[in-house]
Amino acid sequence: MTQNVLGEYRGKPVQKGFDLSGRVALVTGAARGIGRTLAIGLAQAGADIGVTDLETSLDGAKETAREVRRLGRRAVVKPLDVTSTKSIEAGLQQIVQELGAIDILINNAGIIVRKPAFEFSSDDWDSVIAVNLSGVFFCSQIVGRHMAENHGGRIINVSSINGLLGMKQRVSYCASKAGALSLTKVLANEWAQHNINVNAIAPTFLLTPLTERLFNDPSFRHEVMSNQMIKRVGKPEDLVGAVVFLASDSASLITGTTLAVDGGWTAT
Ligand code: NAI
Repeated sequence: MTQNVLGEYRGKPVQKGFDLSGRVALVTGAARGIGRTLAIGLAQAGADIGVTDLETSLDGAKETAREVRRLGRRAVVKPLDVTSTKSIEAGLQQIVQELGAIDILINNAGIIVRKPAFEFSSDDWDSVIAVNLSGVFFCSQIVGRHMAENHGGRIINVSSINGLLGMKQRVSYCASKAGALSLTKVLANEWAQHNINVNAIAPTFLLTPLTERLFNDPSFRHEVMSNQMIKRVGKPEDLVGAVVFLASDSASLITGTTLAVDGGWTAT
């Protein structure tokens, strides 16, 4: 008999390395852009999805959920503001009630303020840190406790090449994304004993509603193309393989790491 080289998940032999059938993923900021694409990608790999976003973005979240259901997977839509621990707890509880234990958390919600550092107000600073750094931590803490009770899980933080580089006009964004990479390592270290793997991805600039205006500027497009080894503009779909892999049993020995999906930008 051929040896099963794919290992086990919760005592059962893994049949397909990247199969997420029977798993539930909670995705933050899933009403549009990267969050929507990751929700659909995880569903394509077999997962059921807790689609969450701000109360004001629930129409988009419902559209994401419709796409997940078209793939034959279950989806529930819940408001979840990552800046409020109350909202995270309520969202988690409702999704657990309807879909069962959460196996995968995708910390995707993010915002940006672009201006020179001298012009940053305390609100400009605080708002970005609240979503991109504190939001990632408190979602991880609250969902992580639930995962620890269930003896395991996967957390994937959507950081950015801005967390690895010091780009002009993005001081709070770069600091928040670098902070998310740091907390990825700390949480990986603390929670390995609970069978919770914590990893991050660091995407290059991708064409989404967040960056649409930037990409309309030829000099920005030129900057991206001259820095990437691979000379094409990335799309949210380019992240799906990395996220499905990190969520899957094939990545069970990978924790505390950052996978750059950046066309080679940070390797130059
Ligand atoms: P987007 O602006 O299209 O979508 C972000 C989503 O997050 C929206 O649906 C928004 O409603 C939600 N959101 C904002 N504040 C929230 C809060 N307090 N609680 C819950 N949800 C909230 O952005 P995009 O481009 O899809 O980005 C997603 C993530 O990917 C962000 O963390 C971003 O920093 C990161 N990223 C984006 C890149 C790009 O080029 N678009 C490159 C690298 C990383």
